[in-house]
Amino acid sequence: MKIEKYERIFMMISAFVMALGIFAVVWSTGHGGAHLPKPAGRIKPELVKTTAPFDQPGLRQTGDNTYEAVIIASAWQYTPSEIKVPEGAEVTFIVTSLDVIHGMRIPTTNVNAMIIPGQITKVTATMHEKGVHSIICHEYCGIGHQTMGGTVVVE
Ligand code: CUA
Repeated sequence: MKIEKYERIFMMISAFVMALGIFAVVWSTGHGGAHLPKPAGRIKPELVKTTAPFDQPGLRQTGDNTYEAVIIASAWQYTPSEIKVPEGAEVTFIVTSLDVIHGMRIPTTNVNAMIIPGQITKVTATMHEKGVHSIICHEYCGIGHQTMGGTVVVE
């Protein structure tokens, strides 16, 4: 089979671009450390309220300026719905869901997670700016989805 010269060049360029793309993906997972987020743990949704740390949701200080915020997402609220931390606090959010898939997004930080029943999500953010930061559910979770929110007050 005879392939025209320009067609052959075009095919070689296409193959090179595809190989480059595959190499970039492989390289970013190996050397760049890119990976899918893994659950920080598993928990039966029906046992959430009686299992530590979710049996006592809320904020705990774990160091000089580090905190753990244990939060339960359910239709259609976060428990607790408000936490207060000082400016510059490093907060690790430990979150799970009682019922359906929820989301957790704090637009002023890097917090952007899915909250899945049966899984524990852990995400850490530094609260740099003083003020009231919204926690938003950004996964459609039913008729009250648009009302589901909370706040992080940075003092
Ligand atoms: Cu919870 Cu949308």
